[in-house]
Amino acid sequence: MAEPLRICITGGAGQIAYSLLYSICKGDVFGSNQPLTLLLLDIQPMMAVFGRCSDGTAGLCLFLCYKVDIVSTADPKIAFKNIDVAILVGAMPRKEGMERKDLLKANAKIFVEQGKALNEVAKKTVKVLVVGNPANTNCMVAQLNAPSIPATNFTCLTRLDMNRAKAQIASRLGTRVEQVKNVIIWGNHSSTQYPDVNHGVVDLGNGPVSIREAVKDDNWLNGDFVKTVQKRGAAIIAARKLSSAMSAAKAICDHMRDWWFGTPEGEIVSMGVVSDGSYGLPQGIVYSYPLTIGPNHKWEIKQDLDH
Ligand code: NAD
Ligand code: LMR
Repeated sequence: MAEPLRICITGGAGQIAYSLLYSICKGDVFGSNQPLTLLLLDIQPMMAVFGRCSDGTAGLCLFLCYKVDIVSTADPKIAFKNIDVAILVGAMPRKEGMERKDLLKANAKIFVEQGKALNEVAKKTVKVLVVGNPANTNCMVAQLNAPSIPATNFTCLTRLDMNRAKAQIASRLGTRVEQVKNVIIWGNHSSTQYPDVNHGVVDLGNGPVSIREAVKDDNWLNGDFVKTVQKRGAAIIAARKLSSAMSAAKAICDHMRDWWFGTPEGEIVSMGVVSDGSYGLPQGIVYSYPLTIGPNHKWEIKQDLDH
């Protein structure tokens, strides 16, 4: 039997985690025959929530997955001990009228503390995905506080933006999201990001064609499409009075599965990673680039794309 993977999810009692646990236990991310130890970290006042939910979560895990053990704790040093994967969700969400950067004061200190704890007790091979907003900046904060872990092991979530962009194109063309490939998110998980369809393709039944050729409406692609993706998070908050949860959980699963198992041949995905200076960006900032991911969880920035 394979050794259990140790996976920590922070904000384990929050709304994204509530949607995320199901898919992870079901095997959507690490495979359904992979035993897991799930370490759920939240703040002390939320431990009562874990107490109330743990029977349900444990039952769900046993039902869905080969084998899952669950540990819930308010201590980052317990949650991060010898972990293979850290999914850092736990942070304050924004409210209507706020930009994600307005959360920095409340949330950056969480990532200072958690970066230090990862540095001290996680495996040096740990793969870290930062979700809590502002995700790029928090990722950089955690990475700078964990100097003993390679910077390439830190990523942040822009897959939600990529999924949103693909959904816009699919809906415009009346096709399925799976038929839309290689849409890129450049930059920050914020309203300054650039969703780029210029290297993307769509298969409407006769093989892949460029998205621009299929859509035949550059005004829409250069205007409303870009703005809709950039502002989608705010539109969801306006509608739900809560920020996205199920779609965020789905994007986390997509990001982690591709990081774990690699990208399909010919496909690129977008993740926030620590810049090596590619495309003229300053080294060290966390920036969403187009990547391919090979075996052994090694990602590479796709180079030389016109942009
Ligand atoms: P939520 O309020 O429902 O849950 C957050 C949880 O984190 C709470 O249970 C809270 O107690 C916990 N928490 C707070 N401080 C913590 C700490 N120091 N350690 C561990 N847990 C802690 O919020 P949510 O809707 O699950 O969103 C979480 C974060 O994810 C927010 O910052 C939100 O803006 C962000 N988000 C990012 C993306 C993305 O694409 N990058 C998408 C959606 C949401
Ligand atoms: C999103 O894009 O849905 C999340 O980042 C939540 C938010 O604040 O918009």
